[in-house]
Amino acid sequence: MKNIDSYSHVRGESLYLDDLPVVQGTLYACVFGSPVAHGHLRSLDLTDAQNTPGVVRILTAHDIPGENQIGGIIPDEVLLADETVDFQGMPIALVLAETEEIARLAAAKIRAEIGPLPVVTDPREAAVLGHLIVPPRTFQTGDADAAFAHCDSIFEGLADSGGQEHLYLETQGAYAVPLENGNIRLFSSTQGPTAVQRAVARVLGVGMHKIEIDVTRLGGGFGGKEDGANLWAALVALATHCLRRPVKYVLHRMEDLRMTGKRHPYSSDFKIGLTKDLKIRAYTATFYQDAGASADLSPAVLERSLFHANNTYFIPNLRVTGYSCRTNLPSNTAFRGFGGPQGMFVIESAIAKAAEELGIRATDIQQANLLHEGDAFHYGQIAEGCEAEHCWTDAADRYDLPRLQREVDAFNSGNQHHKKGLAVMPICFGISFTKKWMNQASALVHLYTDGSIGISTGAVEMGQCVNTKMVQVAARCLSVNPARIKIETTNTTRIANTSPSAASATSDLNGKALQLACETLMERLLTVARGKFGPTTSLRDEQVYQNDTPTGLFWNELILEAYQQRVNLSEHAHYATPGIHYDPTIEKGHPFAYHVYGTAIIGVTVDCRRGTYTVDSVKVTHDFGQSMNTIVDRGQAEGAIVQGLGWMTMEDLRYNTDGRLLSNALSNYKIPDIYSAPKELDIHFLETVGSEWAIFRSKAVGEPPLMYGIGAYFALRNAVRAFNPQAELPFDAPMTPEKVLLGLYARETQPSLV
Ligand code: MTE
Ligand code: HPA
Ligand code: MOS
Repeated sequence: MKNIDSYSHVRGESLYLDDLPVVQGTLYACVFGSPVAHGHLRSLDLTDAQNTPGVVRILTAHDIPGENQIGGIIPDEVLLADETVDFQGMPIALVLAETEEIARLAAAKIRAEIGPLPVVTDPREAAVLGHLIVPPRTFQTGDADAAFAHCDSIFEGLADSGGQEHLYLETQGAYAVPLENGNIRLFSSTQGPTAVQRAVARVLGVGMHKIEIDVTRLGGGFGGKEDGANLWAALVALATHCLRRPVKYVLHRMEDLRMTGKRHPYSSDFKIGLTKDLKIRAYTATFYQDAGASADLSPAVLERSLFHANNTYFIPNLRVTGYSCRTNLPSNTAFRGFGGPQGMFVIESAIAKAAEELGIRATDIQQANLLHEGDAFHYGQIAEGCEAEHCWTDAADRYDLPRLQREVDAFNSGNQHHKKGLAVMPICFGISFTKKWMNQASALVHLYTDGSIGISTGAVEMGQCVNTKMVQVAARCLSVNPARIKIETTNTTRIANTSPSAASATSDLNGKALQLACETLMERLLTVARGKFGPTTSLRDEQVYQNDTPTGLFWNELILEAYQQRVNLSEHAHYATPGIHYDPTIEKGHPFAYHVYGTAIIGVTVDCRRGTYTVDSVKVTHDFGQSMNTIVDRGQAEGAIVQGLGWMTMEDLRYNTDGRLLSNALSNYKIPDIYSAPKELDIHFLETVGSEWAIFRSKAVGEPPLMYGIGAYFALRNAVRAFNPQAELPFDAPMTPEKVLLGLYARETQPSLV
């Protein structure tokens, strides 16, 4: 089934926040953000701004009737700065004006007197200063220190990975409309409607029931609107609460770039110990996560780095520790992969380092250590339905890895100015929110008397086509034509207590809830049909069958009949993933419903005079389970791969030591475009049984393929080393053309170009 939005997308008719019709009397908001990264807020001069014609009011922390607090995991994030400012762009005041232009003009006239405090932008420096968001956490299995003594070779090093801007096409925004009795209806570009509802209620000091959140779709979220949307929603809601007028705020791109958090940069130490037969006997790592100015989701992101520290390898003795470090940058947040990619980059760096020092291929180490069925992860869960080796061998055979390697070697010995590099990137990603209580969802189904169907779930459509999948689930369970089905907006009054659409688990959780609701309705309809035709009656393809013979009674007639018999034609169902548990006091349990596996082979070519490169091919065998929509799933894999390539190769997020974002525009922050996308992108759907915890055994797909992009980093590294074997390259992603160029000509023994 095609994306149900494709028709309206192509015609430009799909509605995003900024397309909603604006109610008469709407005011426009603009934030005055801190000009410095850290300091005491001494005074604010609002006079010029207030005197600007068209300005209605300027709100500050003093105007907040409830709590000046939006921190989800930890209460360390104020809505509007009161005493200190903690990052450049931190909201201090909110201007409300008759037009957007006036609001922005006036915000620019606000002056703040801020007493400077030291600015920290480096997570290791923050750790030394003891500026931690939460106490460090350690996951371990076996005894790594003792095991190093029994290793034949040990390698240590440092691995850094950079941040990443979400760059959703639709910037952050919200639109609040006052209802009667002080109630508010809020349209928000959020992945987490309930998170927004909770934050707004908290800030206004009212019950959550007074705040309704409605979401049609997002122009992308990528994790940036999981908790990142709360701030903007709370600001417009505050204004609506104070002024009893509709208030809208859609961020300009540069505001969004400057004021919102991104993927967490990590700086890590690793130590890996191998036996002669290349088994990883011991591995330790320490992750320093740059959390930014507040906790946001950082502890949960760090937790996933610890879970995925072994990537897809079985390591009997492992100890990984994570520090969540507070810096004076916008609060970094969820980003596709949610800390998994950062953890996996470190183990891949450790393996690459070992391979380089031993003079062997990294693939020899990777392949020798793949997880097998029944192996225990370091957090106690046993690998079940493990497809690690299956994916690896399928990819190696299907794409003829030995031939690809020979071709690269032959090319490199025959070419001086261009070098090719190849890397293999196997992945393993756990599916479930790592907080058990978040693994629940509900759905509401109405069968209307004419046989048409309306469905609501807690799922937010953000381009991942979850709405298409929800329509598929209902159509399949009710055995009707999808054209009968309308999917409603995601709305907190229809579906309460939603988990954010995140963790790749949205279609599993909401799909299973929807399946339960549809099954209950089907039972009721069958009871009506059996009353008429006897116990052997069934219902399929919109018709009632008796002993496999069509009865001539059709779906819409059956619905009407059921209605006339006063049968309930609406159902609300709730689903909670069974079997998952985790004990953080011992860091052991069964946190994931299942894992997703896959292997990618990535090939690159470096221009050794310029440092520029192309990603020639990404060839993948991926474990989609029994994909319920191969078009959508392929699209998700392709998008994730390109986003992962961007993170690893070109997206160079830079702040200066004053905490000012330097890569503050698309002219100096390069994301992949069609020219930088791999020329060849093969994705093979591995035949597997899937998991019973995946909707229709169709495994979660949103995040896992992003991590294939990590392979591009190592392919580039291999190409650089083919040119300059002496190159001592730090493990420092992204591998931008500048870094490639420096690497090509590193050290005195520089190869010279003839
Ligand atoms: N695909 C598109 N087009 N836009 C997005 O914002 N977000 C990704 C992924 N794919 C995203 C996307 C992220 S971070 C996640 S967690 C999943 O989609 C969320 O949706 P799912 O749970 O339905 O896979
Ligand atoms: N993944 C994504 N988002 C989340 C998670 C997670 O594991 N936990 C909380 N939010
Ligand atoms: Mo995705 S980072 O879990 O929104």
